[in-house]
Amino acid sequence: MQPLEATGRIALITGANKGIGFETARALAAKGATVLIGARDLAAGTRAADAIVAEGGMAEAVQIEITNEASVAAAATRIGEKFGRLDILVNNAAVSLEKGREPSEADLGLLRQMYETNVIGTVAVTNAMLPMLHKSDAGRIVNMSTGLASFALTASPDSPFASIRHLGYISSKAAVNSATIMYANELRPSGTKVNAANPGLCATDLSAGKGQPASAGAAVVVELALLGPDGPSGGFFDSRGVVPW
Ligand SMILES: NC(=O)c1ccc[n+]([C@@H]2O[C@H](COP(=O)([O-])OP(=O)(O)OC[C@H]3O[C@@H](n4cnc5c(N)ncnc54)[C@H](OP(=O)(O)O)[C@@H]3O)[C@@H](O)[C@H]2O)c1
Repeated sequence: MQPLEATGRIALITGANKGIGFETARALAAKGATVLIGARDLAAGTRAADAIVAEGGMAEAVQIEITNEASVAAAATRIGEKFGRLDILVNNAAVSLEKGREPSEADLGLLRQMYETNVIGTVAVTNAMLPMLHKSDAGRIVNMSTGLASFALTASPDSPFASIRHLGYISSKAAVNSATIMYANELRPSGTKVNAANPGLCATDLSAGKGQPASAGAAVVVELALLGPDGPSGGFFDSRGVVPW
């Protein structure tokens, strides 16, 4: 499968001031894309963009707090005015707030916060950016998921994942998976492809520093962001290939 040429493509990555989002932006910029570093803290986004520019990439920060509709709308307006279109949207920003609590002990406030960010924020950003993705000749949306959200991998009591109990985080990412399929079905006629990525366990603030380097997790995201016209839509992938739903 031939990937798209990254040069000249405009990519927005939410939550790109650090972690896997930053490494995704960095890798896309290294391939020649112009990357918009979505960050709720503009100063942090600017530092990340500056680091990519210092490496020779094209990057700039865009303030975007994905739970704030005005911030999302302002980011969409700014991107529209400056670039007139968007080729790649990586819905990367997310939170995991429970620290292994059992479902029977779920904190409803934390649950709401995770759904607000991981699910509703992802939908809000997607819908705000769609008019600009429709102006691309090959729109690509990558939704960040996790293998923990795979029913097939977690349903068996013998699964290595069966002892992991982050109800809000995992079920919110299962909702992201479901949304991925629905957007892919809606957008198929337009040529915009929508897929879910499992980066695998990566050493970031979200994972308390456990796992592989974030750059390794970003590789599958970059691949899905640059899928050629014969690439899949409505799928779930990690670095080894298809992840079962
Ligand atoms: N790390 C892993 O092992 C792993 C595994 C599977 C999937 N993932 C997924 O990969 C993605 C990136 O995770 P990560 O590990 O790189 O986490 P991270 O280092 O904690 O980065 C998360 C990013 O999201 C941003 N963010 C959080 N809430 C936001 C909001 N309301 N509005 C805008 N930005 C917001 C954070 O901004 P601030 O810096 O301002 O907090 C930060 O930039 C997430 O979707 C996560 O679920 C991670």
